[in-house]
Amino acid sequence: MTAEKYPLPTPPELKRETMMQKLLIRPMQKADAPFLLPIEIPSFGRFHWNEESFRNEVSNQVANYFVLIHKPTGQYLGYAGVWFVVDEGHITTLATHPNLRGLGLGELLVTHLYGLAYQAKMLLLTLEVRTSNFSAQNLYYKYGFRMVGMRPRYYQDTQEDALLLTTPLLGDEQQVTLVNGVFNQFVQRAGETWCDGHSLKNAPALTPFAPPLDVLEAST
Ligand SMILES: CC(C)(COP(=O)(O)OP(=O)(O)OC[C@H]1O[C@@H](n2cnc3c(N)ncnc32)[C@H](O)[C@@H]1OP(=O)(O)O)[C@@H](O)C(=O)NCCC(=O)NCCS
Repeated sequence: MTAEKYPLPTPPELKRETMMQKLLIRPMQKADAPFLLPIEIPSFGRFHWNEESFRNEVSNQVANYFVLIHKPTGQYLGYAGVWFVVDEGHITTLATHPNLRGLGLGELLVTHLYGLAYQAKMLLLTLEVRTSNFSAQNLYYKYGFRMVGMRPRYYQDTQEDALLLTTPLLGDEQQVTLVNGVFNQFVQRAGETWCDGHSLKNAPALTPFAPPLDVLEAST
C-alpha cells in the first residue's frame, strides 16, 4: 500500500472560528474507504489500515464509524470510530487531515463519539494510544480520560507500548460537569455555530445518570 496510490489532497482553507457550518459528520460507508487512505497512511505509518479494513469495520455490528466532510468541496477531513460492546465504548480509530491539525477537528470527532456513547448509556469509554502520541493523549485527557494501564509492545511496527486510557463513569456527576464545561468552551471557540450530524448538536447539557443496579453491586 503506497502513499503514491493515495495522494493527500490539498485541504480546503479552514478557520477555526467559522468552519463549523461548513462541516458534516455522517456514518461511514464502504464506498468511503479509498478516500480515507490519504489520511490513514500518513497518520498511522507502516501498519495502517487498508481499504478492506475500513470496509470490514463498517460491516461490524458493534461498530459505529463516521467521516468528517467539508461540505462545499466534499473533501474528507477526518474519521473516527467506536465499538459499543455490552456497556463499554471502545474508541478504535481517530484521525484528521495532516495539514488541518490543531484547528479543532479532532476534538469535534471525539465529542461526537462521546455524545453517542453517552446517549447509548455506555458506562465508560476506553482506548489505546501510543506512549509517544502526546497530541492524542492531551485531547483525551481534556475529556476526562485517565491512564489505567499499559499494554507492552502493543504496536507491531515499532514495538511501542500502548497506554490504556479510560473515562470515569460517563454518568458520574463530576465527569458530566467536566465534559459540559470543556464542550461549552469548544463551542464558544467554534463561533457558536455547529456542525451538521454532530451527536451533541442542539443537545441540552449532559446530565448525570446512575449505572444499572448490577454494575453498582459488582463494584461494591
Ligand atoms: C490526534 C489527532 C486526531 C488530533 O487531531 P487535531 O485535529 O489536531 O486535534 P484538535 O485540533 O481538535 O486538538 C484538540 C486537542 O488535542 C490536543 N492537541 C492537539 N494537537 C496537539 C499538539 N500538537 N500538541 C499537544 N496537544 C495537542 C490539545 O489538547 C488540543 O486542545 P487545545 O486546542 O485546547 O489545545 C491528530 O493529531 C491525528 O490525526 N493524529 C494521527 C492519528 C492519531 O494519532 N490518532 C489517535 C489514535 S489514539
